[in-house]
Amino acid sequence: MTRTIVLAGAAGYGGTYLREIAELEARGRVRLVGLCDLHPLDTDTHKQFGDRPFDSRLDRLLAETKPDLAIVATPIHTHLPLSRHVLNAGSHLLLEKPPAPSAAEWREVLTLARHKGLSCQVGFQSLGSGAYARLAKLMAAGELGEIRGIGCYGAWSRDAAYYQRAAWAGRRELDGVPVADGALTNPFAHAVATALALDRSTGWDDVADLDAELLRVRDIQVDDTSCLRLRTRHNTVITIAVTLAAQTPTEPVVVVHGTQRRAELHYTRDLLVLDGQPEHHGRTSPLENLLAHLDDGARLQCDIEACGAFTRVLEHINATPAPRLISEPWLTREGDGPTARTHIPGVEQAVRASAEKLATFAELAEPWAL
Ligand SMILES: NC(=O)c1ccc[n+]([C@@H]2O[C@H](COP(=O)([O-])OP(=O)(O)OC[C@H]3O[C@@H](n4cnc5c(N)ncnc54)[C@H](O)[C@@H]3O)[C@@H](O)[C@H]2O)c1
Repeated sequence: MTRTIVLAGAAGYGGTYLREIAELEARGRVRLVGLCDLHPLDTDTHKQFGDRPFDSRLDRLLAETKPDLAIVATPIHTHLPLSRHVLNAGSHLLLEKPPAPSAAEWREVLTLARHKGLSCQVGFQSLGSGAYARLAKLMAAGELGEIRGIGCYGAWSRDAAYYQRAAWAGRRELDGVPVADGALTNPFAHAVATALALDRSTGWDDVADLDAELLRVRDIQVDDTSCLRLRTRHNTVITIAVTLAAQTPTEPVVVVHGTQRRAELHYTRDLLVLDGQPEHHGRTSPLENLLAHLDDGARLQCDIEACGAFTRVLEHINATPAPRLISEPWLTREGDGPTARTHIPGVEQAVRASAEKLATFAELAEPWAL
């Protein structure tokens, strides 16, 4: 069956959806019936999709095109108003992560989707990885033994241009509305959501004892180097230690410490390492999974409701005092202007140690965190 789609957000991450939609159109699975963006399409997108209806107002475009589903891949603080348009138009929704910048907004999307009887998938693509599914199954079957804890670490590097690319980048709030673009709630949001899902603790009430250490190396409102620890309804301790100020970036890893086995999930690479043995897997994208859900009732990888625990984390971070600026002696700098980067020497080892020991930066006595 061919499903009709509207995409809101035609540049930025929306480019990933355009590539996927082109492939799915070639297979007859979908038909893109409209594009929405505040800015005109770039030359390449115009060449490929310039024959489709385009509007800067999503409500108008939805009224004209009446799609089966709409994808919202726009800045976080626009998710609620655009989701309202989609659901009120009677279309199913694929909403980019994080679903909302506050608990109230997440609840409103969830309530409206349920009220309208429409599906709402959230674009946490790590939950569509075969590596995630295999590990979740092993854990649920007790194959790793008792779970002593789950530690995640991530060490990326971002230049000044990353924070200059959009008005909402690096903001806690913009023009009085929450944005929540911190390292834990946006770039490394997948680590948080994946760890919680592996523990089958995805509901709002499934997490407690949250403790966040929020730090930054730049003149931004949000954290770029952070450590979160919490306890889940299964009494599992989860830590997530991340940075965007690494000198030697590496892909993030979720480490599951079982009493019998140890698993490392490299969620961006669909790689599972079980007691040192690597297994490579494939993945099903959030869009493909939503199509299968609509066609055959397949279970959604990430229903909006399953973002409850994630949103509780986000709300906790929103309520935590503004991140502390790490002082100059602990930092090194490289490049100028848009390519300028700031590093915390040794931060790669610190995030890894946090995941191994389930400890916070302060407990590890990292000098820049004290
Ligand atoms: N799943 C992932 O791995 C992943 C990766 C990157 C970004 N994202 C998410 O994708 C979303 C978009 O991020 P981005 O970096 O591409 O943002 P962006 O600032 O680049 O904006 C994307 C597009 O949305 C358009 N836009 C902004 N406001 C709009 C509105 N009100 N109506 C219509 N179009 C509008 C912009 O003009 C732009 O073309 C965010 O939720 C982000 O967290 C997800």
